[in-house]
Amino acid sequence: MAKLSVRDLNVTGKRVLMRVDYNVPMEDNGGVMVINDATRIKETLPTLNLLISKGARVVLMAHLGRPDGKREPSMSLRPVSEALSEMLGKPVSFSEETMGEKAEGAVAGLKDGDVLLLENVRFHAEEEDNDPVFAARLARLADLYVNDAFGAAHRAHASTCGVARIVRAWGGSCAAGLLMERELKFLGDELDQPARPFVVILGGAKVSDKIRVIDRLLDRADTVLIGGAMAYTFKLAHGGKTGKSLVEKDHTGTALAAEAKAKQRHVNFHLPTDTVIATPVATGKLNKKGKPVYDLQNPRVISGDIPDDSEGFDIGPATAAAYAAVIAGAKTILWNGPMGMFEDPRFAEGTHVVAKAVAEATQKNGTKSIIGGGDSVKAINKAGLGSQVTFASTGGGASLEFLEGTPLPGVVCLDNCQ
Ligand code: 3PG
Repeated sequence: MAKLSVRDLNVTGKRVLMRVDYNVPMEDNGGVMVINDATRIKETLPTLNLLISKGARVVLMAHLGRPDGKREPSMSLRPVSEALSEMLGKPVSFSEETMGEKAEGAVAGLKDGDVLLLENVRFHAEEEDNDPVFAARLARLADLYVNDAFGAAHRAHASTCGVARIVRAWGGSCAAGLLMERELKFLGDELDQPARPFVVILGGAKVSDKIRVIDRLLDRADTVLIGGAMAYTFKLAHGGKTGKSLVEKDHTGTALAAEAKAKQRHVNFHLPTDTVIATPVATGKLNKKGKPVYDLQNPRVISGDIPDDSEGFDIGPATAAAYAAVIAGAKTILWNGPMGMFEDPRFAEGTHVVAKAVAEATQKNGTKSIIGGGDSVKAINKAGLGSQVTFASTGGGASLEFLEGTPLPGVVCLDNCQ
């Protein structure tokens, strides 16, 4: 069922409480928190500009990190309000309180077209509990509710869904923002009726993380290309040796069942034929998380079994070339999950070749390319090709759940179109 759109709201002079996903990567730079990637902020500008141009009084709420219900200065949204102000080219006021008297006072002071950002909703434990009293205190700041936070729509929290029920009960409408609409269109409608051939590229660490997505996409895809560490579970399932590679021994059956379904549905199912491996050698050091650091020695390409002392980190060049050839013939592409440990340049080539092939198919053949969020978006941006694909989702977990076909609480709670 299509959802009410922010375009359909009469917002002039109204307080529009809008949930956004400003959970952006930040870094401590000499005591100052600096935003590393502002994509999620930038992607909300179309909705904000629409609301501002119509004279809405915009009240933004968002979370940053996981502060566990406590005020945590390094997770304050203040730097985000400054970045947003720069992007909008107009002041964005900031309320140190998320709700309550001071926040209500700040909202009361807004004029038509003004924008205010509230402090991190997760400084209150009631947010993640979807506490109705907390949601009602947020709802006091609103005449209308807009959700543009696709990335947080899989969370049934007070700001992502609880508040919508109260705003509606008090007579206000609850609509999807423009970014939310785009996400639902590309990850939903466009993949329901894909132009063919429809090629799905799946990577990432675990089969168990992706199995529901694989299962659902096997009903629609023409070809599935598998990469990332999850390929080693498939290798193990076929009796191959995987050395020290990340495998899920208890999911070899899941992997074989996916292949059987592909066969039954005449979906071309490709697994890597070669792999880049290295030999991990303990350095005796621990990383920031207290985990042992390994030196990955002697990176090399193999096409058979992985030796006992070695681990796989990327698809090999023959696989990458074969995948690129399949991608070149696609009319619709969905890519979720990198092909290898692309953060390390020695294991980035497979992901890079795939990223290049996806961008080329989009630019040269008019292929619709949809990047399903998280690490694959990071990878395509790292390759400098982010602007050359049709759509890159701002969701991580939300994209995955949506692609699995799970209803997202932050979408379900919005008004349906009449
Ligand atoms: C994300 O970054 O995936 C969203 O902002 C949700 O964050 P969370 O996983 O902490 O709920």
